[in-house]
Amino acid sequence: AAASAIQRTGAIPVFVDIDPVTFNMDPQDLEYQIERIRQTTRFHPKAVIPADLFGLPADYGRILHLAARHGLHVVSDAAQSMGASFKGQPAGSFGTLAITSFFPAKPLGCYGDGGAIFTDDDRLAARLCRLRSHGRAAHSKYLHVQAGLNSRLDTLQAAILRCKLQAYAPAEQRALQQAARRYASGLKGVVQIPAVMPGQISAWAQYTILLYDANQRRQVQQALTRNGIPSMVYYPAGLHEQPLFRDLPRPPQGYPRSEWVSQRCLSLPMDPYIREAEIDLICRVITETILGKDSKREGEDAHGRKPGV
Ligand SMILES: Cc1ncc(COP(=O)(O)O)c(C=O)c1O
Repeated sequence: AAASAIQRTGAIPVFVDIDPVTFNMDPQDLEYQIERIRQTTRFHPKAVIPADLFGLPADYGRILHLAARHGLHVVSDAAQSMGASFKGQPAGSFGTLAITSFFPAKPLGCYGDGGAIFTDDDRLAARLCRLRSHGRAAHSKYLHVQAGLNSRLDTLQAAILRCKLQAYAPAEQRALQQAARRYASGLKGVVQIPAVMPGQISAWAQYTILLYDANQRRQVQQALTRNGIPSMVYYPAGLHEQPLFRDLPRPPQGYPRSEWVSQRCLSLPMDPYIREAEIDLICRVITETILGKDSKREGEDAHGRKPGV
């Protein structure tokens, strides 16, 4: 979504490799790509779009600093991170603009399609409001001043979101934090569990583990399927591998870390209503697949249960 939005403006997307631990944009590679474009092309970088993947805020400390140094706008893609924070500042409040999606699978989802753009720039906000409604002027219903879109948030979806924000969002966030802690204690030492850096709170849009290689991921996914447990590979390919972007110029080394992770990552069931016993079963299936049937982890009884569960 973010990369095709760039193309629609007539600009050229330049991808940045990820940090293999957080799966988010690597600020060091961002700096390299900015310098590479400056030194080897006639183009000028204009903006950077970090996504808060799987609910974890990008490294805004370093990204905002770099963007300021190079005169770039930051457009923060907070579609997966509503409810998260970075050093106490909520996701969706970084950069010139931030966007979110209210698609039902997102941390703040409605019951259909929807989205929002956040900014504290009044001029930009006024322009966005015009664009949202066929380029209509703010002061007159039948005066159109620019080419726009129909991009209004549907009233029914807005009513659902209002209700969720007021009544459910904080409780759901707490439940997700608890679920993540339980996954971590069940899977630590067996697979690479998601990293949350100091000062960050994740919204846990996904709970994504990293397996040893593609073969081990296949085995784990098959074992989960045999036990009736769904899992998903988010994402099976990097943006640079999509047919839409395959012909874009790229750095000589490509994007090795994105490819490495896309071959090993696996997202497990994660939602505020998942039960502890379900998480324990998922952890047991994964542990047994990787370490063998007789694997007994510290503190577990013969059934793989932890005391008190
Ligand atoms: C990080 C991110 N950005 C943008 C989008 C696009 O959202 P929508 O389909 O509501 O436009 C998604 C949805 O999958 C997403 O995960």
